[in-house]
Amino acid sequence: MVTSSALLKNLFVCPEESNFYSQCLESLVLSQCSQGECILEFGSGDGKPVINSLLKTEFNGVIYGFELNQLAYKVARDNILEYALTDKYIIRNISFFDFAKPTTKYLISNPPYLPALDNNIYQPLLHGGSDGSLISRRLLSLDYENVLLLVSSYSNPESLINYAITKNYHVSNFLVSPLKFGYYSSEPKVKNTIEEMQKKSQAFYSSNIYLLAGVLFTKSHKAKVDLSTELIQIMTSL
Ligand SMILES: C[S@@+](CC[C@H](N)C(=O)[O-])C[C@H]1O[C@@H](n2cnc3c(N)ncnc32)[C@H](O)[C@@H]1O
Repeated sequence: MVTSSALLKNLFVCPEESNFYSQCLESLVLSQCSQGECILEFGSGDGKPVINSLLKTEFNGVIYGFELNQLAYKVARDNILEYALTDKYIIRNISFFDFAKPTTKYLISNPPYLPALDNNIYQPLLHGGSDGSLISRRLLSLDYENVLLLVSSYSNPESLINYAITKNYHVSNFLVSPLKFGYYSSEPKVKNTIEEMQKKSQAFYSSNIYLLAGVLFTKSHKAKVDLSTELIQIMTSL
């Protein structure tokens, strides 16, 4: 019998965030894709966000997911089987970075973005480096044409968006949602880092909420608009 606290420590569980990722995937990516598009996903978790989106949209391509956590991978594999989506959602239990090649037009992820000095936290695979933006930067450095990322207002958002600009990305669209601090972001080691970052204008939040944005970064020669100034204003507003 797996207790809920053991589950939280071994598998990413945050329905509000996963549902928001799913909503961003539907409206920022799946609704724009051409027929038979192939999409790569970093960090599938239990697979539910992509499964929910696939069940709600007419997307007829394939999503290839990568999940390093073995338990999450097994749960995702079972969920995909249960919903008979094995031809549309194919996942592998290896690190995305052992595979990544920019052969597809879309990379999607709700990436690890918890800031902390090291990865000795409840779930090491949710660690996003010392300011929370490390994995997102790595994903933006791989040269995919379109990258959908969830970006947190407490993980050095301005610097991350400016980094994307140096990699020739425009912010072509975004959605923003308020979120409450949860199990992972309230861990003292993470919360202390976020507090220190706030003093350096690298983390933006109130006592009640932080902001989470689903951001579609598109290579500048393909983007119709650049909303990076507006996004920075919103993400640094708390
Ligand atoms: C914030 S969770 C998101 C999970 C799921 N996409 C969701 O939104 O519910 C990030 C996921 O990335 C996975 N992960 C971390 N490093 C990884 C890597 N190098 N390759 C593949 N997955 C990785 C973690 O195990 C975790 O499940």
